[in-house]
Amino acid sequence: MKKAICPGSFDPVTNGHLDIIRRAARTFDHVTVAILTNPRKQPLFTVEERLEMLNECTRDLPNVSVAASEGGLLVEFARAQGAQAIVKGLRPIQDFEYEWQMGMVNMELNDEIETYFLMSRKEYSYLSSSIVRELASLGGKLDLLVPPNVEARLRQKFGAAR
Ligand code: PNS
Repeated sequence: MKKAICPGSFDPVTNGHLDIIRRAARTFDHVTVAILTNPRKQPLFTVEERLEMLNECTRDLPNVSVAASEGGLLVEFARAQGAQAIVKGLRPIQDFEYEWQMGMVNMELNDEIETYFLMSRKEYSYLSSSIVRELASLGGKLDLLVPPNVEARLRQKFGAAR
């Protein structure tokens, strides 16, 4: 059984993330979407809120589950789940340096867990959770960027007046 982890902050999950999760689920027998702590970021949504949103968005994918691990290493989480792979999306240019560094560190930490990068689809290549948060805070249009349940949560966070 080939198991993969799709890790991230998912603050919040976007259509770009969901595309990567769906494509990973076509390749691996089981995919665990893992909400992990990124020490470089201060999240908008609580871990519980992010878990709920991801569970709602992946309900139609029978071989996908969602989990959270506050603190701790990604490779340790992957090992504990019995996963052999980490799958991440790679957008043009901006992701490469950081993802390459993380991939190398994770390889040093556990050489048995392979990192796979899926190229982001062109329509999502500019999309990020941070741009979604910024747009939401300014009352911008979100319907092509996130699923309706996530848009509703963002509107709640930033106030219905916007
Ligand atoms: O969506 P993000 O914020 O780019 O995801 C980054 C994340 C959460 C996958 C990354 O920060 C991570 O792996 N955090 C867990 C701690 C860890 O293993 N760090 C790498 C070695 S220092």
